[in-house]
Parts: sequence; C-alpha cells; structure tokens
Amino acid sequence: MKLILLGPPGAGKGTQASEIVKKYNVPHISTGDIFRKNIKEGTQLGLKAKEYMDKGLLVPDELVVEIVKDRLLEDDCKSGFLLDGFPRTVVQAQALDKVLTESNMNLDKVINIQVDKTVLVDRAVGRRICKKCGATFHIKYNPSNVDGKCDVCQENLYQRADDNEETVSKRIQVYLDQTEPLIGYYTKQGIISTIDGQQSIDKVFEDIALALGSEK
Ligand code: AP5
Ligand code: ZN
Repeated sequence: MKLILLGPPGAGKGTQASEIVKKYNVPHISTGDIFRKNIKEGTQLGLKAKEYMDKGLLVPDELVVEIVKDRLLEDDCKSGFLLDGFPRTVVQAQALDKVLTESNMNLDKVINIQVDKTVLVDRAVGRRICKKCGATFHIKYNPSNVDGKCDVCQENLYQRADDNEETVSKRIQVYLDQTEPLIGYYTKQGIISTIDGQQSIDKVFEDIALALGSEK
C-alpha cells in the first residue's frame, strides 16, 4: 500500500501514522521526523532545516525532495510506504509523481485529515512527546497514564520547539497557502479520501481503515 497522509499541523497525522504502519506493515516516512533527527545530531541538513522550522516556514523544496527521493528508492519501500508530511507543495507533489513514474510505482491513496483551525492550535500546543520512543500524547485529549512521563518506557516527555502558539499559527497559515492546494491536485487524480479528524483517535483510524478498503 503506497499512501500519503495529508493535513494541517496538529491534525493527527503522526498519531494515525503509528497505527497505519502497524496494520499495513509499511515504512513510515515523516519528513518532520527526519529533520528533527538531523537537528538532534547537529548535521548540516539539520542546521539548515532548523532555520526554517523555528520560524514555522517550510524547508526549501530542493532539500526535502532529495531526501524523500533517496528514501523511496530503498528496498523496503518497493511494496509500500506511508508518507507523512510530504508532499507539502505542488512542486513537491510533481517531483514525487516523477520519482514514482520512473520507478513504476503508483500511489494507492491520499488520506486527507480535516480539522478546524481553532482546534489545531489547542492540539499542537498541548502535545507532549516521549524522548525515547517518540510516542505522542496530549495533556488534555490523550494524556499519559504516568504524569509527565511516557507510559510505555517511563521516559520524560518534551514539547517540540515549534509547538508554541505563535509558531503554530504561522505553520497553519503556511499550510493554507502552500499545502492545501494539494487537495485539488489529488482530487484531480481521483485518489483522495477526506476523513473527519475531529472524532476520537480510534474513530479516525476506523474511518481511515474503511477508506483503505478494510475494517479495523
Ligand atoms: P511536521 O513534523 O510534519 O509537523 P506538522 O505537519 O506541522 O504536523 P504535526 O506533527 O504538528 O501534527 P500531526 O498532524 O502529526 O499531529 P499529531 O498526530 O502529533 O513538520 C514540522 C516542520 O518541518 C514544518 O513546519 C516544516 O518546517 C518542516 N517540514 C516537514 N516536512 C516538510 C516538507 N515536506 N517540506 C518542507 N518543510 C517540511 O497530533 C497533534 C496533537 O493532537 C497530539 O498531542 C495528539 O495526541 C493530539 N491528537 C491527535 N489526534 C487527536 C484526536 N483525534 N483527538 C484529540 N487529540 C488528538
Ligand atoms: Zn516512550
């Protein structure tokens, strides 16, 4: 299954991605995670990406496209993958189409998670992530069972540097200007399914599984 998860910041892409990759046994390719890993390791790519991410702006297309292209050509992506947070511009979507065509691959589905703007800020600002395993929680909507710690591995939780109200608002604006046009792009290709992201985490997953043609 070759999939894209589309949706604004805080829509629940990462949360759903962790369930989708388990059920469909495909690699999870999150460009945001790749950049954060590079920032942590202090690589050149990380240093460049950080300049943009801290401001809530998109990292330039040429940097992102190269990384995803290399990743998609690895063996484990041949039978399927889940792209989370890519593509984010029409230029990225066109570059992806080119890579897939050249490798004789087709996208099966674009899952578009829809959430109102007012809810998005609340979701991103309240998000907490495990330092060790990357599990995502929310202080109100999806709290950990262990206060301030991950209930899987007991590690401390942290807040992402770009999850403050000002940067989240900027990221939402950037989404509306540069990423939302992709809904039209994939509607034309006839492969998009829009899911109501304002239901419970389980119900959103159930709807995604239905859109992918199987029950949860
Ligand atoms: P990225 O890491 O991709 O972040 P994002 O798109 O802004 O999305 P988020 O990770 O904020 O949200 P999410 O939809 O995954 O929500 P989550 O599941 O965590 O990108 C970060 C930056 O990297 C960008 O700003 C850009 O600079 C750069 N970048 C990345 N890719 C790029 C690209 N292709 N091109 C250029 N630049 C790029 O959920 C959010 C919270 O809500 C959590 O706390 C969760 O527990 C809670 N929650 C989830 N679902 C529900 C629900 N149904 N009900 C209640 N709460 C819920
Ligand atoms: Zn953990």
